Amino acid sequence: MIQHLQHKIFKCISECADELGLETYVIGGYVRDVLLKRKEPKDIDIVCVGSGIELAKKVAHKLHGKPKVQVFKNFGTAMLNHKDLEIEFVGARKESYQKDSRKPSVENGSLEDDQNRRDFTINTLALCLNKHRFGELLDPFNGISDLEKGIIRTPLDPDITYSDDPLRMMRAVRFATQLNFTIEQSSIEAIERNAKRLEIISQERIIDELNKIILAQTPSKGFKILFNTKLLHQFFPEFVELYGVEVIKGKKHKDNFYHTLEVLENLSKNTDNLWLRWAALLHDIAKPETKRFEEGHGWTFHGHEFIGSKMVPIIFKRLKLPLNEKMKYVQKLVLLHLRPIVLSKDFISDSALRRLLFDAGEDLEDLMLLCEADITSKNEKKVKRFLNNFQIVRQKLKDIEELDHIRNWQPPISGALIMNTFDIQPGKIVGEIKNQIREAILDGIIPNEYDKAYNYMLEKGKEQGLEKQ
Ligand code: CTP
Repeated sequence: MIQHLQHKIFKCISECADELGLETYVIGGYVRDVLLKRKEPKDIDIVCVGSGIELAKKVAHKLHGKPKVQVFKNFGTAMLNHKDLEIEFVGARKESYQKDSRKPSVENGSLEDDQNRRDFTINTLALCLNKHRFGELLDPFNGISDLEKGIIRTPLDPDITYSDDPLRMMRAVRFATQLNFTIEQSSIEAIERNAKRLEIISQERIIDELNKIILAQTPSKGFKILFNTKLLHQFFPEFVELYGVEVIKGKKHKDNFYHTLEVLENLSKNTDNLWLRWAALLHDIAKPETKRFEEGHGWTFHGHEFIGSKMVPIIFKRLKLPLNEKMKYVQKLVLLHLRPIVLSKDFISDSALRRLLFDAGEDLEDLMLLCEADITSKNEKKVKRFLNNFQIVRQKLKDIEELDHIRNWQPPISGALIMNTFDIQPGKIVGEIKNQIREAILDGIIPNEYDKAYNYMLEKGKEQGLEKQ
């Protein structure tokens, strides 16, 4: 730790703090992450007993020759960027909360007041920067011991900490997932009691924490806690619906909640792509809605990929996830997630392969990763066979692609060319001919070549009574 405090920036803050006579500390996430040897933190939080803004200005002056900092007057904080570091200065404060808001009323306080108002003991650790006490650790809540034992614990009664700021319940789950820590039992119980208070938190903040959980190494850990504490029920009821097993005439289906988490877990070993991980979360989201028990067949989920892809924009909109190409990507993967599996079971026709290449386009590799992760059978032989079949599908897709270049392919005949050739106005017929050409290429009726496609267009035009002009 002392080695980290040798950084020029701390020396500079230390000198300024002493010149202003301000008791000053580095606190929170920075100290925690350095002690945990996580990646070098870029955010530094500085607390002083007095004006954080004044201290920030002095530091800026010393570092950059000008006292310019970003000041957030309402919060009494000031922000300074230095190289790739973002340093936030704040005066030590005491906070008190109202029931219907996470915005506290704030008054000046001691360092201890400031540590009291923080979320978890592991985030309250403060190191003094004043010269005569440089590097002295203030750990009134045994945060170091919790770091060592891997425990998430609130400094105050957890009911107060969570009720004051309900976002902290999501943060507790997020830290437990990211750090592979355990949330103390009394904290878990307080989260269960306060879960409904999440309603005063903006969707953006909730999703920000959820995305951090999804991006962790073992995201299923977080989802299980969210589910058990009923936090998940507050903002993601569709996912909760996946939970459970029904039995009819001795036949049961798998629990889609745990299956989905297993898929996410499998996939997470191979990708850090947040949106691909979202596709795993949502790939079976319509299973509860499409579930039927059919005599002679057992459980079926016909069309769940199609209905699921329709649910994606609705869920994204409500969760305040982006409604742009990321959403379309997730939608596409949900829609296509059964296709490689079907190909790996049946006889594979070239046209089916071409169609998959065309439909998946540049996302084919991601789709294959999702499908491989979707194999969650406990039967090792079965898993081996499926994975082996997927290898065959991959190879065949590669061969077809080399031959036909279907991926990212645009059909060779445009609507404009059709209109010019037959001297017709835009209309339904243009689209029909264009589609017929595309389908013929995908079905292998004609090769993917301009001349062949052109002749085919003339042929199809003729069937509609059109002549080349
Ligand atoms: N904090 C809090 N309650 C919150 C958010 C933050 O008590 N709802 C406190 C914690 O002490 C935290 C510090 O403010 O350490 C800084 O918050 P932030 O930068 O959001 O989190 P970090 O702990 O730095 O972690 P990360 O960067 O991973 O979010």
